Amino acid sequence: MKKTINTFLEAKQKNEKITMLTAYDYSMAKIMDSAGIDGILVGDSLGNVFLGHENTLAVTVDNIIYHCQAVARGAKNALVVGDMPFMSYQTSVYDAVVNAGRIVKEGMAHCVKLEGGLDVCEHIEKITKASIPVMAHLGLTPQSVNTMGGYIVQGKTENAAQKIIEEALAVEKAGAFAIVLECVPEKLSDIITKKVNIPTIGIGAGVNCDGQILVYHDMLNMISGFKPKFVKQYANIGVAIGVAFDNYIKEVKAGEFPQKEHTFKIDDDVIEKLY
Ligand code: KIV
Repeated sequence: MKKTINTFLEAKQKNEKITMLTAYDYSMAKIMDSAGIDGILVGDSLGNVFLGHENTLAVTVDNIIYHCQAVARGAKNALVVGDMPFMSYQTSVYDAVVNAGRIVKEGMAHCVKLEGGLDVCEHIEKITKASIPVMAHLGLTPQSVNTMGGYIVQGKTENAAQKIIEEALAVEKAGAFAIVLECVPEKLSDIITKKVNIPTIGIGAGVNCDGQILVYHDMLNMISGFKPKFVKQYANIGVAIGVAFDNYIKEVKAGEFPQKEHTFKIDDDVIEKLY
């Protein structure tokens, strides 16, 4: 069944959990979609996990559109959310509407996500008025890595926690249909989830959010190294892929691949005429 923003809102009303993952290409989107995922985010995390940048800041609107197109072709039922990259909306409300429009029109996303609270309420309002649903993103907002001073859990003091609550209420009022809560204490996300009527989608925000999202490279352990505390590794795909590549290289070098069953035949009398 096709998932829409109504599916997300109804899930909250029925107390049913919402599932989301990131994807950046056709084949992964198709696998997630077949598994029954509710929403796929073409996140600007593609800057880190797909393009190898240190952070998300270099990602462009064209990058997001390119990857959204691939994901949209693979996702027959999931809601496709296109992330608005750094400086595609912060510059003005006009830029926000134009770039959200491009992500939906050219990228074939169903809606967009952007980071921030009170500062982007007008942007959310105007994008929504242009018939593009907006998912908000509060707490740890990776596009603000330089002002936050790193990837640090947010909302731990009374003032900081109060600010996130106010921002959640404000983005809801501005028209957001859902809120990603990233790296905030579980008890704070509980309060926010109860206070707002739109679904909260947690990443590092505890089990009581209305839904969860993870970056698929993290949950499949595609890239070995640092594992954030909030990530559960559901498989060890990076190692499995490495073993497959290793075996391929060994077999090609040893002349063991390809075998007869991987090879095409031709009649001998055709071959004889070639000599
Ligand atoms: O870009 C992304 O993948 C995200 C998720 C971490 C929510 O914003």
